[in-house]
This record gives sequence, structure tokens and C-alpha cells, in this order.
Amino acid sequence: MRYFLTTAIDYVNSRPHLGTAYEKITADVIARYHRLKGDDTWFLMGNDEHSQNVFKRALEQGKAPLAYCDEMEQAFRETWAGLDISFDDFIRTTDRRRHFPAVQALAQACLDNGDIYEGTYEGHYCVGCEEFKPEKDLVEGLCPIHKTKPEWIREKNWFFRLSKYQQPLLEFYEAHPSFIEPEVRRNEILRFVEGGLDDLSMSRAGQSWGIPLPFDPKSVVYVWFDALINYAAAAGYGWDQERFRSRWPANLHIVGKDITRFHCVIWPAMLMSAKLPLPGQVFGHGWVFFKGERMSKSLGNMVDPLDAAKRFGPDPLRLYLTKEVPYGGDGDFTWERFEEKYNADLANNLGNLVNRVASMSERYRQGALAAPGSRSAVLAGAAETAVTAYTAAMERLALHEAAAAAFRLISATNEFVATNQPWALAKDAGKAAALSSVLYDAAEAVRIAGVLLQPFMPASAAEILRRMGTHQPAPELRLSDAAWRADAARQIINDGALWPRIEDQGAIVVSETPTRETAEKTETSETKDAARGAGDQAPSVTVAETRTAPATSDGLITIDDFMKVELRTAKVLTAERMPKSKKLLKLSVDVGEPVPRTILAGIAESYEPDDLVGRSVVIVANLAPRPMMGLVSQGMVLAASAEGGSAMLVNPEPAVPGTRVR
Ligand code: MSP
Repeated sequence: MRYFLTTAIDYVNSRPHLGTAYEKITADVIARYHRLKGDDTWFLMGNDEHSQNVFKRALEQGKAPLAYCDEMEQAFRETWAGLDISFDDFIRTTDRRRHFPAVQALAQACLDNGDIYEGTYEGHYCVGCEEFKPEKDLVEGLCPIHKTKPEWIREKNWFFRLSKYQQPLLEFYEAHPSFIEPEVRRNEILRFVEGGLDDLSMSRAGQSWGIPLPFDPKSVVYVWFDALINYAAAAGYGWDQERFRSRWPANLHIVGKDITRFHCVIWPAMLMSAKLPLPGQVFGHGWVFFKGERMSKSLGNMVDPLDAAKRFGPDPLRLYLTKEVPYGGDGDFTWERFEEKYNADLANNLGNLVNRVASMSERYRQGALAAPGSRSAVLAGAAETAVTAYTAAMERLALHEAAAAAFRLISATNEFVATNQPWALAKDAGKAAALSSVLYDAAEAVRIAGVLLQPFMPASAAEILRRMGTHQPAPELRLSDAAWRADAARQIINDGALWPRIEDQGAIVVSETPTRETAEKTETSETKDAARGAGDQAPSVTVAETRTAPATSDGLITIDDFMKVELRTAKVLTAERMPKSKKLLKLSVDVGEPVPRTILAGIAESYEPDDLVGRSVVIVANLAPRPMMGLVSQGMVLAASAEGGSAMLVNPEPAVPGTRVR
């Protein structure tokens, strides 16, 4: 199937920020999903250059507007490359070969159909929105979005008869219920159109920066009328009719909620006027805020997506934005939450699983896993359920649900490893076949998760598939590859931590705060260890960012003090009494790391060892190792104990071993 999708084209008066990048990342996930389905996918992006703000910015910098736009194109392309955005075409509204003829042809078609007439416009114009603002929409005389005073403009303009399309638009929405998604936007647009439509001023007089109207070369086309046509221009309209016929209409326009009106009302009316087919769907996504605030130059809080991608690579950012923000709704970005999710989803969950499966396959089978005679019904079932849920969610553009479905398979696989205890099977020569199957099944489930995550984390997915011994280059990978396979031997590759865990040293009290210099040194050396695949321990990295927490003088501790204690869930794998000790039990616990930890716990008077096996407990995971009775205890198990009373273990709901407790 042919699938043509687009994003909004960006104003180039400033560099891309996390909000504009969010849109491109989500569109890229959808494009990659369609390629995974085998669709003949064409993904279009571009830059919107004929805005007055762009013109002003160029002049401020002493540059010719076009030269400025050429430079900005490079900045945008660099950002999109840094985020692994796989667009197939990139159009600029200053493109004279493709965009100019398309805009002029479409304006002419609307004129020829009697939908453009001459008149005079008078009103408030917000340059930030590039839109005339009705008096009633102003707040204390200011644009509610840009908080600036609009210009009062009175000029001879050409008008597009938008009002004529009120009824045809309402009929079109009725006949195509999924044209506007999500539902909240559809309702907004329906209410707006039902309220009546004013004709639209579609030209600006006396300006040079823009595309001249074919029927009045002294006027240029209004920037929005110009910009919307980019989608048809890239497809060939006005310069290659053959190409246009084979590519138009677009299946999906992805745009922010602030500009759905342009795409769901003005654009379809323009197409109706020019007698062209309408696109399949407009999806109006929500906004990403930074710490709850709109990102803006004036607030100085624009997050550069490349900074976020540099922190851990593009994939963790892509995953964060698509998994944590329900697609269609608004979301928030904070560095703290980003790091927290990185640790939870990638370092502790997926990364740890890939590591464990690879290191155990290497240790017990030199990486060579033969095709087993059977499969785990539980795990194969979990994989099938995940694939079904993932596909249904992707088809509805519920990207967050699709990512969550893939992660449910990852959690199920972690659970499978914890339950089947390959390390215990390895001790028993009679269980060699069972060990082989457990390792193969776990590797197969990880491979399937890798296929599902490919649109979200393309580079990481390729690496996961390589490690699981089934490397397939992305163009060949298909959704059908997510079916369970047990028919071929695999050579698993153990290559160290994929996502080293971040230990946030920012939570240290003032006196212990490391200097930036020492923090950076730690990061460099530990990152290198991670890259080398430092043994079995999950390597940790110190973030080179320091925050201080004021100590309190009333004996209370701050949240930062508390967060120094790393509490994690763990699962008891084995328990035995310590010889010559009434109080101590020796526990082997799974904390979600490649190798179980040994902990000596003073609970022997309260618990029988056998009753503990399989139980979830909470441990202090960052306690300095303590030599005790000839062993080294690597943590402490939490228990409640009244003075002289027996110990009662803290009993969490079953959670993936290694989950942070806070
Ligand atoms: N040039 C117009 C679009 C013309 S499309 C024919 C424009 N440009 S923009 O640069 O202001 O915005 C580009 C896209 O980024 C829009 O879809 C907009 O909604 C989106 N976003 C801008 N800030 C955003 C967030 N903070 N969060 C999510 N998306 C946001 O509008």
C-alpha cells in the first residue's frame, strides 16, 4: 500500500526546539511503522520561510533572507539527522522549482473557480501567529499566545471565499469521521465551523518576501495560504502532474493542536476550490512543555533536542517522548523525569534483560543457542498478545500504548528469566536441555521486542537484533518478523551494557557535592568501562550535573537526602542458614542485574529459608559491601522490627526486580 505522511513545516526564525522535534519524532515513528508493514511509504517534512519573522530575523543578522534560510536549513537538517528522522523528502517554501509553481497554480485555480475576489482588509495582525486576530480573541489588547500587541493593518487584499465552504466542510466531516483526530480536536473544529466562517485574506500588499500572485504580481501570497500548499507541491502539483496523480492525496498530516484549524478548515476548503482530492486524516498532537511551561525564547527555556539526544543518544529521547506522552494529549519534559525513565525502562529493564540473556548465553553455551524442540507457552503467548496490542495501537496512532505493549513483553521476559532461574538450571547437568530452551526462549522474546521497538528506537533495535543473533537491516525488517520463531540456531553476542545506569549524584548534600571536574572525570572513565563491557556488574555513570540540597537544622532530612538511599525491589532466589549464626540467613537475590547479589540478613529467627524463596523484598542497593563471617554482604533487606520483637519483612507488590522504591 502507498502511504504518504507529512509534518507541519517549521518557521526558521529560530532553531528547532524540543516541541517542534517532538512532532517530527512521532511522525518518524509512524513512517517507520508503515515501512515495517511493507507500505510504500513517503515521509515529507520541510521549512516555512516566507514569514515576516523570518525576514526580520535575517535582517537583524545582516543577512539576505534567502541566505539566512539556507543556513537555517542546514541547522534543521543537522537536528533531524541527530534524532534519526528518516524523512524521504524535504521541501522549502522558497523552492522555485517545485513550490512556487504549485502555489501559483493553486491560487489561479481558486480564482478560476470564482473563489478569490479583491477587497480591503482592516484588522489586528499578529506576526507571531501570522494571522489576523478578531478583537474578541485578544487579551487586554495582546495576542493570547505571543503576549504581544498585534499590528493594525489596513490594506488592499485578495480574499478567499472560505465562507462558501462551511456546508461542504461539515458534510465532508460527517462523511469522513476519522478525518480529524483525536476526537477532542474534531469536536473543536466542528464547533468552530458550525459557528460560521469568514472569508480569508490570502495576500499581502507591498511586500517582497513571498510568492507573487499570478494575477497581481505586486502582492504576495499570504504565508499560510503559501505554506499549506507545500504538501501538494512536493507531490508534483503545478510542475509534474504525472507525479502528482500518483502521490496525492496525503494519507496523514501530522500537526500541532495550535494549527489544526488551518489544516482542517482552510486547507480542505482550498483543495475543494481547486477541485483536488482531500487528505485522509489530520492528526492534531498535543504540546510538550518544559517543567509545565510553554517553551519560548522570551522565557529562555527552549530545550535543544540535540542536547537531550547527546545525553544518552537519540533513542532514549525518542522513547521518552513517544512512550510518556499520550499521543494527542499534552506532555511535559524535565531532565529529572527523563533520567528516571532512562534508568527504569532502558538501564534496568530492557538493557538489563539484553545483558542478562547475552551474558548467560555466553557463560553457559558460548553464545551458541540451538533451535529447541519446544517453546515456552507462557512467553510465546505474551509475545503474541504484545504484537496484537501493539499493532492495534499503532493503527490508531496510540504510539504510547504501542510502546507500552512492547515493554510489557520485556517485563514478561524478565519475569520468565527470574522464574526459570537459568543459573540454578546450570548447576544441574540433568537440566541442560531445559537451560538451553529457557535461554533460547528468552532470546526469542527479546528479538520480538526488538522488532516492535524498531520504529521507536531504530539504532537500538538493530543492535538488539544483532546481539540476539538475527541481524536484519531495517529495510528488510517486517512486522511479520515479530512472529515467534524456534526453527534456527542463533549465535548470541555479549557486548556489554547497552544503556549504563545513571546514578544521579545531584542528590548529594552541599558538603559532598563533587566539583564539575571530578564528576566529569568519573563519567568519562566509567563510560569507557561500559563501552568495554565491564564484567557482569551493571556499570554506573555519574551525571556531570550538580545540584545542591540545603540541609535542614531541625533534624529532618530533605528529599534529596532520602533519595541518596537507593531502595530497590528484589526477588529471593535462594535462602540458607549461616553456619554458626542464630540470626543470619544467606540470601541470593535478583536485583535486575546480570548476576544475583548475596545478602546476609538478620532474619533467621523470624523466617524459615524455604518460605523466602520466590518472595519479593525491598533492599538498600547502594550500601557499601560489608565483609561478614567470611562473606561479603552486598546490600540490606528492609524489615520492620520492634525493640526485642521479631523481624517482619517489607512486602512489596510483585514488581520487576530492580524497580526503584521511593
Ligand atoms: N509554519 C507553521 C506550520 C505550517 S504547516 C503548513 C508553524 N510552524 S512552527 O515552527 O511554529 O511549528 C511547527 C510545528 O511544531 C507545529 O505543528 C506546532 O504545533 C509544533 N510545535 C511547536 N511547539 C510545540 C510544542 N511545544 N510541542 C509540540 N509541538 C509544538 O506553525
